[in-house]
Amino acid sequence: MNVPNHIAIILDGNGRWAKAQGKPRSYGHVKGCQNLEVICDDMKELGVKYLTVYAFSTENWKRSQDEIKVLMNLFRGYLKKCIKISERNKMRVKIIGDISAFDPDIQKKIRELEEFSKDYTELHFQIALNYGSRDEILRGIRKLVQDAADGKVLPEKIDEQIFENYLDTAGIPDPDLLIRTSGEQRLSNYLLWQLAYTEFYFTDVPWPAFHKPELIEAIETYNARDRRYGGVKEES
Ligand code: IPE
Ligand code: IPE
Ligand code: MG
Repeated sequence: MNVPNHIAIILDGNGRWAKAQGKPRSYGHVKGCQNLEVICDDMKELGVKYLTVYAFSTENWKRSQDEIKVLMNLFRGYLKKCIKISERNKMRVKIIGDISAFDPDIQKKIRELEEFSKDYTELHFQIALNYGSRDEILRGIRKLVQDAADGKVLPEKIDEQIFENYLDTAGIPDPDLLIRTSGEQRLSNYLLWQLAYTEFYFTDVPWPAFHKPELIEAIETYNARDRRYGGVKEES
């Protein structure tokens, strides 16, 4: 099986999955978080080089205080566990998004995990936390404008490559395949720049129930696609 170099996933449907079983939303988040551990092993086994997951958006602060508390505590536990996951998969972990909004202990765990895993190259795992694509682009532009004002960048020289260096995903290739679980067919402010030519795959399966067979199905569907980048493909 030909695997995409970079897979991005919008981890959606934890709450609905739990509700369908008569359980609280928090149970869905616990299971969704556990599933994230397994999917990294699956990606590594399949030979995927880059995985970028959407775990908490800039809009998710609109949720109840109780739900946010559950999510923050799950992040705490997960970031710690992720050291082991990164070790066994030789996986480099980076957080994308504005982490300054998180409690200091969470920020510290993020820095520790990034530092611990920085020399691994088998799998590159990006977790989007307090991530919003519009926010990412604006933060990048603020920095770029400052660099231009300081004479470090010439405005007429700004091209796509230079701009991309100001995004949280600097140095990471664009996703080949985007998967969104749980039926919604929208981007919810995810990787708007980076997904310009990505293939989209939407499935009704909620995130806690999305396992290796579902992943393989997504990859097989991707493989049957005729990727184009604006040109005309030669007939074979
Ligand atoms: C995804 O599941 C997890 C986060 C956004 C944190 P949801 O919590 O969005 O679950 P649904 O979409 O309400 O079912
Ligand atoms: C998108 O899911 C964000 C994450 C998965 C982290 P949401 O459940 O927050 O998105 P909407 O509100 O349905 O667009
Ligand atoms: Mg949702």
